[in-house]
Amino acid sequence: MSSYKCHLCGSPVEAVVDLHVQPLANSLLDSPDAIDQNWYNAVWAWCRQCELLQLTDVPDASIVFAGDYPYLSGQSEYMNQHFRKTAKMLYDKYDLSMGRAIEIGPNDGGILQYLSCSVLGFEPAEACWPILDEKGVPHRQMKFDLRSARETAAVWFKADVVYTANTLRSLKDLRDFFMGVLEVLNDDGVFVVEDPYIIDVVNRNEFDQFYSECVYGFTITAMQNIARMFGMEVIDVDELTDNHGGSLRWHMARVGKRPISPNVEALKVANSEFALKDKLNRFQQMIDDISVLFVDELAHLRDTGKSVVGYGATSKSVTLLNYANVDVELLPVVYDTTPSKVGKFLPGVHIPIRDAKEFADVPRDAICILFPYNHQREIFEREKGRRWLVYFPKLDYKES
Ligand code: TYD
Repeated sequence: MSSYKCHLCGSPVEAVVDLHVQPLANSLLDSPDAIDQNWYNAVWAWCRQCELLQLTDVPDASIVFAGDYPYLSGQSEYMNQHFRKTAKMLYDKYDLSMGRAIEIGPNDGGILQYLSCSVLGFEPAEACWPILDEKGVPHRQMKFDLRSARETAAVWFKADVVYTANTLRSLKDLRDFFMGVLEVLNDDGVFVVEDPYIIDVVNRNEFDQFYSECVYGFTITAMQNIARMFGMEVIDVDELTDNHGGSLRWHMARVGKRPISPNVEALKVANSEFALKDKLNRFQQMIDDISVLFVDELAHLRDTGKSVVGYGATSKSVTLLNYANVDVELLPVVYDTTPSKVGKFLPGVHIPIRDAKEFADVPRDAICILFPYNHQREIFEREKGRRWLVYFPKLDYKES
């Protein structure tokens, strides 16, 4: 048992995953000789009391999300389709024809760009503002918290649906966030959250999902506990098998305001059968095994004269590459579509990021490492005739 206390309930927590000291995933460097400034102690622990997996030493959010946060979700056709489908589902399920919706962190469009009702986004990332303007998505250029929520409820509107994707797990202060949600949510409104599902993450061995923006991993019990703390309850869940390697969409409402779907109990039963804590006890060994196999394979490819390149300078890749100690000798380059990443270097390992447009020039017999494995279908369809090295759920080669 460690001396750390649960961020939510204050009970002692038990360290289960230790990825050593890691650089912040988005602290890309301008030169290969630059010194990494931002590191954190990458230890995740388990709270037996509320079943919340959590990063013990949470780096300061103002550094994690500093400056020009480079990620633009709309660059993925798959994510656009996902947002379009989600918008339609929410519109129909909660009858938004006369309604209002708020998205926390729509990034460069999110679901709001596809909703034909009154909408409002909270988006602190400056790079996204002109894109939201261009798409005609009204937004507040600020982060969402209790203060900005109160002001919004008074000056703008309260919403029937408040939606956020891949946000909740990155916020240490869940209290401030949930209190804010209650401020902007109508009395019978629904709070809809999407995040990678910790059961899927562990089941598929995806330990690279643990990076600096991942403060929490939610089980159904954890989410029910959190909701209860704020007078809410989980009323429905949707399993999203393709998103980020497996995500869950949680629907929450104030207690007693909405019927509870049988999906919630079904997930709870499946969740208890999975025995997450037992799996977590063996997770560290599995992480070490995969890292060793991965680095050995890269060394073998180098020694046999194979050309190796990375595809997708994801946040996730930073965890794997740093934990496995992969350097430019083993992986000389990673290609990526994000303009603000091109020309920079991955933190910790200092591997250069090149424009994905140049990927076409990579020899056909090169081995390509697929870092955004959650976008495999889209990438394989576009980049045909390539040989890929994948590492989850186990090290394997695939052809596109
Ligand atoms: P994502 O899996 O969303 O990553 P993470 O949340 O771990 O950063 O992938 C986003 C990154 O992958 C982003 O840097 C863009 C890059 N990418 C490509 O280079 N090409 C592609 O076809 C896709 C889908 C992503």
